[in-house]
Amino acid sequence: MDLTSVRKSYRFYAPIYDFIFGRIVNEGRRKAVACFPQQPGDRILEIGVGTGLSLGYYSEEIEVVGIDVSPEMLRRAEQRISQHRHRHLRKLLEMDAEKLEFPDNSFHGAVAMYVASVVPNPEAMMREMFRVCRPGSPVVVLNHFASNRRSLQKMERYFARFSSRLGFKPDFCLNNFVEVTGREPQAIHPVNFGGYWKLLEFRVDEEAAAGGAKAIDAAAHAAAAAIAATGEGTNGDQESPPPRVRVV
Ligand SMILES: C[S@@+](CC[C@H](N)C(=O)[O-])C[C@H]1O[C@@H](n2cnc3c(N)ncnc32)[C@H](O)[C@@H]1O
Repeated sequence: MDLTSVRKSYRFYAPIYDFIFGRIVNEGRRKAVACFPQQPGDRILEIGVGTGLSLGYYSEEIEVVGIDVSPEMLRRAEQRISQHRHRHLRKLLEMDAEKLEFPDNSFHGAVAMYVASVVPNPEAMMREMFRVCRPGSPVVVLNHFASNRRSLQKMERYFARFSSRLGFKPDFCLNNFVEVTGREPQAIHPVNFGGYWKLLEFRVDEEAAAGGAKAIDAAAHAAAAAIAATGEGTNGDQESPPPRVRVV
């Protein structure tokens, strides 16, 4: 998947997105937003904000900045804001998650809901999310990951060949994703029906902020290269052992 195919897919989805992907996975959105302490004045970055389905879950005392690469999805988010007056939403920007145009340490947290399996390079997105957040901030990822059940794996693998048209990778692998971030999530919560989706809570640590980030990124880069060398990327690899990380 590349940005052109992402934009094309979401140009198609924009008018029908809320109907298909709205209420059905709202539980995950609500729980993802609840991961942030939301102290008055906090600034949260929402990556791939889409049509803004999560905006109603934030406290009105904070500031939310939403970015997305799809102008059509952003237009829907703008319409939502004008209807619901989400005063906490400061800005909606057309921007690539892999090249954020914000300075280091400029947010009190960042979240990507149902985006990690859509962006062409999830490693770059995660690196950017950590870069723009202050030490101690939560970095939260909510996504569908490939199932451990063989029957579902077969289906996911079959549909994976249509990823560009579907607008996401159905066989997105949790283990490989965690590996390429180079960071250990503090917790992984199953969410939405059947726990088929996972909420990953990371935290920007002090060491990373003090310059260790470069070492972590180098390790993550090496992991990504090793995974890429297997030809699997962040998808595939369902035969691998279950995640090493804690599932709450
Ligand atoms: C499945 S939708 C999720 C939208 C929203 N987060 C939600 O909860 O409904 C994925 C979104 O990620 C956006 N996206 C994909 N790649 C991106 C990138 N590189 N930078 C920013 N946004 C991206 C798409 O345009 C789309 O709006």
